[in-house]
Formats: sequence, C-alpha cells, structure tokens
Amino acid sequence: MSNLTFGIIKPDAVRAGNHGKIVDRILAAGFKVRGMKLIHQSKKQAEGFYAVHAERPFFGELTEFMSSGPCVVLALEKENAVPAWRDLMGATNPAEAADGTLRKEFASSIGENAVHGSDSDENAAIEIAYFFSKLELV
Ligand code: RTP
Ligand code: MG
Repeated sequence: MSNLTFGIIKPDAVRAGNHGKIVDRILAAGFKVRGMKLIHQSKKQAEGFYAVHAERPFFGELTEFMSSGPCVVLALEKENAVPAWRDLMGATNPAEAADGTLRKEFASSIGENAVHGSDSDENAAIEIAYFFSKLELV
C-alpha cells in the first residue's frame, strides 16, 4: 500500500467557495499536502483524465462539468493514502455518503460531488503525474 494519493476539489466546490474548508478538513484528517494548485482544465484535458470512463453514458456531462471552472488538484500523503482519502470523501452519490464525509457536507448530486480521489495506488501515480511535474511536488 502506497502512502500517496491524488485528489481534486471539483469545480462545484470551488465555485461555492468551499475549497478552503475542504483543505482544512484534509489537514485535520492527518494528510500532508505534497502538491497543490488551482487549475482550469480544458475539455480535452478532462477527457484525457477520465479516459477510463469514455464509454460511460455520463462521460460528456462529466467532462463538461470538470472543465466548467477552476478546480484544486492535490497530491496527498498519509499511511494507506488511497483508502484513507476515499473514506474521507464518502460515497460517490452524496445521498449515500456517511455523516462526517466531504461529499455528505459539500456535494449536491452524483455528478457534482465536490471531490475526486484515486481508486488504486497505480492510478494515484498516473494521476499525480498527469497534473504535477517533479518540481511541483515537495
Ligand atoms: P471520482 O473518480 O470522481 O473520485 O469518483 P468515484 O470514483 O467515486 O466514481 P466513479 O465511478 O469513478 O465516477 C467518476 C465520476 O463520474 C461522475 N458520475 N456521474 N451521472 C452518473 O450516474 C454518474 N456516475 C458517476 C461522478 O462525478 C463521479 O465522481
Ligand atoms: Mg473514480
């Protein structure tokens, strides 16, 4: 199990001004921030990032949304980082997210669900490399 994962504070959460609160929650949960920046993805960049979902019916909507405004990309360190970050995020659908999770508090729908987290160590490494150069990671 690796100690690194990748996260995004999605455009809905940044638009609502919740990115500071979410970073606070990440730090309070014991993660170290190894990389962090505000970006505004193009549709093409969002399509590249979510390429695994290219055949899914919600792909167009998802990549429109992810390129609809600025988001915060994060490289996060903690023991068992991938499951630890997914636990803090909560279920994909906020209606099913447990109390105390970020999606319970900040997400409004399954599409606009405030945060992203890698689903495996392998994808975490790929996703960190998609958004950060070595120089941008501490
Ligand atoms: P994420 O990748 O964003 O961390 O979310 P996840 O693993 O919990 O969910 P995943 O199955 O990977 O889906 C990626 C994102 O696609 C959007 N989605 N929309 N309309 C729908 O039925 C639907 N299903 C998924 C969500 O924004 C989800 O986070
Ligand atoms: Mg996913």
